[in-house]
Amino acid sequence: MRRAVCPGSFDPITYGHLDIIARASKNFDEVVVAVLENRTKSSMFTVAERIEMIREVAKVYPNVKVDSWSGLLVDYCKSNSIEVIVKGLRAVTDFDYELQMAQVNIQAAGVETMFMATAPSHSFLSSSLVKELAHYGGDVSSMVPASINAALKHRISGV
Ligand code: PNS
Repeated sequence: MRRAVCPGSFDPITYGHLDIIARASKNFDEVVVAVLENRTKSSMFTVAERIEMIREVAKVYPNVKVDSWSGLLVDYCKSNSIEVIVKGLRAVTDFDYELQMAQVNIQAAGVETMFMATAPSHSFLSSSLVKELAHYGGDVSSMVPASINAALKHRISGV
């Protein structure tokens, strides 16, 4: 069985992430969406909230599971018999950092990374941008599923 992981902070999940998850699900027997802490970012949603939100929007893909991990991604891969990390690349600005991580992960642990080109319609999309827009009352309905939009509004309104 070929298993892959789509890792990220998913704070929150966007249509850009979902596009990569959907395409990965067609290329692997099982895909685990793993919510990991990114130590360079502060989060709006807890890991438990993010897992719940992802489960809701990814339930249409029967071979996609959602999990979380705190620690190195390669250790998660080893403990769960996952051979491949799948990442989306939006633009050259993603490339330097993603290449470094992929090289560390192959060199230190023998775990492969496969990059998928993000759909052009999503190339500008990021969770940070979505949070910024939503914070100031911008319309993010074309960037995230309706349930995520509702969760953002709820969190921002503080109720
Ligand atoms: O969605 P993000 O914030 O770009 O995801 C980055 C993430 C969480 C996948 C990355 O920071 C990560 O893999 N963190 C886990 C710790 C780890 O393995 N770091 C890489 C060492 S080179």
